[in-house]
Amino acid sequence: MKKMQLTLTVNGEAHDVLAEPRELLIHVLRERLGLTGPHIGCETSHCGACTIDMNGRSVKSCTVFAAQADGAAITTIEGLGTPGALHPLQEAFREHHGLQCGFCTPGMITRAFRLLQENPSPTEAEVRMGMAGNLCRCTGYQNIVKAILAAATEMNTLKEAAE
Ligand code: FES
Ligand code: FES
Repeated sequence: MKKMQLTLTVNGEAHDVLAEPRELLIHVLRERLGLTGPHIGCETSHCGACTIDMNGRSVKSCTVFAAQADGAAITTIEGLGTPGALHPLQEAFREHHGLQCGFCTPGMITRAFRLLQENPSPTEAEVRMGMAGNLCRCTGYQNIVKAILAAATEMNTLKEAAE
């Protein structure tokens, strides 16, 4: 199939990428851009391991064709923090043991990022509802929810301090 030229802004950086229009966005990110944070789990839109942020919405990147992403602004887990300067969500997952094997974690944190953008002070029930599309085989979810609530508090405190 003829390849097409895509323009993507990923984690704040512009990229021109040559890809087949029907190629899945998760493959473009992982194989063409080397961003292996978003994971491939089910590849059928169930598990959420491939979750990224695209144009201000949480998106399962195994359900998006490359052609649909042309011109998009994308954030992956790699764009949220660095090993030396973790995002409050990353810090909270570490602090509250929100992960075990870590396979679901990039998708969980990227989804939680958008959830807290939309609702900066969620209740526990709202966190559970908002995270319903992301599955974890290890943790039983309790510590993931705890971590997201703790990150929300921390992010609100940082925001207030900056105002
Ligand atoms: S790999 Fe995309 S939802 Fe499971
Ligand atoms: S930590 Fe293993 S799947 Fe979630």
